[in-house]
Amino acid sequence: MSKPKVLVARAIFPETIDRLAQHFEVESNQADAVWSKAQLIDKLQGKAGVFTTGSERIDAEVLDACPDLKICANMAVGYNNFDTEAMTAHGVLGTNAPDVLTETTADFGFALLMATARRIAESEHFLRAGQWTKWAYDMFSGSDIHGSTLGIIGMGRIGQGIAKRGAHGFGMKVIYHNRSRLDAALEAECKASYVGKEELLKTADHVVLVVPYTPASHHTIGAAELALMKPTATLVNIARGGIVDDAALAAALKDKRIAAAGLDVFEGEPKVHPDLLTVPNVVLTPHIASATVPTRKAMADLAVDNLVGYLVNGKPLTPVNPAVLAKH
Ligand code: GLV
Repeated sequence: MSKPKVLVARAIFPETIDRLAQHFEVESNQADAVWSKAQLIDKLQGKAGVFTTGSERIDAEVLDACPDLKICANMAVGYNNFDTEAMTAHGVLGTNAPDVLTETTADFGFALLMATARRIAESEHFLRAGQWTKWAYDMFSGSDIHGSTLGIIGMGRIGQGIAKRGAHGFGMKVIYHNRSRLDAALEAECKASYVGKEELLKTADHVVLVVPYTPASHHTIGAAELALMKPTATLVNIARGGIVDDAALAAALKDKRIAAAGLDVFEGEPKVHPDLLTVPNVVLTPHIASATVPTRKAMADLAVDNLVGYLVNGKPLTPVNPAVLAKH
């Protein structure tokens, strides 16, 4: 019997391709070409599965044009590149890569918070530019992490990881806002108290965003929310571009309405709002929160496990639209 055909949309570890090739006829993209939607549709002809990375948009137009497609396996926990409603209507399963990146991403959220509050990037640029001629009492004074109030918006697994780092490691007072409140045992484990969004923005010294992107979470932080924050506060976004209104944030940073921001994700990335590139009090990283070799390998392995699990064994591990399975 011929093997099902699978497309890998982006360059990936050679061993990932080898694993897939044990079960599938694989078309890969190890040159990492950036495909237009028309090219993606063309490549998907005859494919039962696709390994995506979060950059490939799977919508009704793609699904209409690719009738053989059965599963899209994202190598990302976020899956806002999937139109899940259209996928379910077309009987196409989506899977994501949760859990395996939780601790690595929480580490990065904390690293970005510290770099932002303690002005590490800004001071490094100063030194590299040869501007350090003498010590000064107020040179690059930032804000404290230890003992401060950490406000987390989005208290899923990654948010909880950041809360634990803050509360247990740095003696921070942790407050959080989420669509639903955690149960008492989890709140105690994270040493975190539930508050309304407005109270969080008004009282936190550091605000970290870890909410999934949905139309409802679009511009969770805009000009009105930034105006509620303390002028000494920092804002960190490791969630998704579009959660923050980047133009409003750039204006707030420029006017020092908040002290600083750390951003790993951007509206319209890989483009970055030009005003963010010119303000000094922002740390910018290119969507690398889960980027350690073991974690990226685990994410790729989980996407492969989902493709094999569904197309070979009929049992995907981490479906995002399980309604498709109920139809079988
Ligand atoms: C990265 O942003 C992911 O969703 O895994």
